[in-house]
Amino acid sequence: MSRKGASARANAARIVDSVRSRGRSLDAALESIDSDDDSFVRMLAYGTLRTHFRLEDRRRQLLDRPMRSRDSVIAALIDVGLFQLSDTRVPDHAAIAETVEAARVLGKPRLAGLVNAVLRRAQRESFEPEGQEARFNHPTWIVERLKSDWPDDWRQILDANDERAPMWLRVNTGKTTLAAYKAVLDEAGIDYRQHTALPQALRLEAPIPVTSLPGFADGLVSVQDGGAQIAAPWCRGDGAARMLDACAAPGGKSAHLKELADPDDALTCIDVDARRASAIRETFDRLGLKATIKVADASNKEDWWDGRPFDAILLDAPCSASGVIRRHPDIKLLRRESDIAALAEVQMKLLNSLWQTLKPGGRLLYVTCSVFKDENERIVEAFLDATPDATENDLLQNNNIRDVMRRQARGYQILPGTDGMDGFYFACLKKAT
Ligand SMILES: C[S@@+](CC[C@H](N)C(=O)[O-])C[C@H]1O[C@@H](n2cnc3c(N)ncnc32)[C@H](O)[C@@H]1O
Repeated sequence: MSRKGASARANAARIVDSVRSRGRSLDAALESIDSDDDSFVRMLAYGTLRTHFRLEDRRRQLLDRPMRSRDSVIAALIDVGLFQLSDTRVPDHAAIAETVEAARVLGKPRLAGLVNAVLRRAQRESFEPEGQEARFNHPTWIVERLKSDWPDDWRQILDANDERAPMWLRVNTGKTTLAAYKAVLDEAGIDYRQHTALPQALRLEAPIPVTSLPGFADGLVSVQDGGAQIAAPWCRGDGAARMLDACAAPGGKSAHLKELADPDDALTCIDVDARRASAIRETFDRLGLKATIKVADASNKEDWWDGRPFDAILLDAPCSASGVIRRHPDIKLLRRESDIAALAEVQMKLLNSLWQTLKPGGRLLYVTCSVFKDENERIVEAFLDATPDATENDLLQNNNIRDVMRRQARGYQILPGTDGMDGFYFACLKKAT
């Protein structure tokens, strides 16, 4: 038994507890932990949260009485232990010994015996999930909404949400070529595959730390999901001298827009969150790109707009992120059904306000990483009904892209897991001349 192994389990339990009991995002909880075994802690925390509803039911069945709320970190630790037993290759004896020891690291030595008893019982007994949340490993409101929005696909979406997301790269064709970067990966022994619809994308066969990516620091490559790589070329179309990315942080799609742009094309990036907006600057510096970055509420054009209209606008709107649950499993715990109507209001406000900054003949690409129709085609439908100079432009860049997307009454949807991509919605809106 090692102190390091126990401390990794204790850290994973702290992270899980911080999300579940204090409502912190997984990203924020991970940032606050100083660990020397980062990737293992991340794997345990992600996995435990990804499997939360099933593990919680299992723990409930194994315990004679519920844990006290002041021992919530031990409930989280038990779940970290159960996750190791059911979903990882960690040998059972090590999983149990280190997890029991972690109770002491967490300052709860008197509960070490309980952790041991529960994990040993789990090892002996089989498990039958009770109730819908445990069976589908999702909160009921998400299951019901998916059933209603996607009657033929909801099971597939639930399964995709519980998969580990692959790592996609976007090769910076401003600095290198896809062929040259593939040769670099071959040389480094990193396996990948290409996608016929995405000219800059490579999907790695196994994720690796960003710091191990050849040429990352020099801006040859960025990490970006394949579905996300559809946005920039679509928004830019045949060319756009003045572009706006209205909800830009951390800058993945903005950087892609600028990589594709002509040297004189100008890009303005806005984000309401100053901390997140500073990540845009870091991304642009690494890639050697330039943009005007502003911290502002994009729906309040008096605060940031100089009155000169844009040729193309990317509105990657704040949303439930229900299409990227596999990357952010904490969404299943932190999002509430009541958030959806509030988000829809913000999305509509952004759309209405940004439309006024678009040139006649210009294009606005509305994007969300949601699979809920209330944030997607219903927003676009209502906007088109109320906006006489707006029409949907349903032309796609290539037919291979058509194959990964579902045509909706308005716009297109990629369901999570399609060709290894995240779930995204896109609608391209054109302003009359
Ligand atoms: C989906 S994320 C954008 C991701 C980004 N486009 C990328 O590809 O890296 C949505 C962003 O919108 C920002 N946001 C939310 N409300 C906003 C508003 N009213 N004005 C500007 N930005 C906003 C959030 O801070 C968040 O960074």
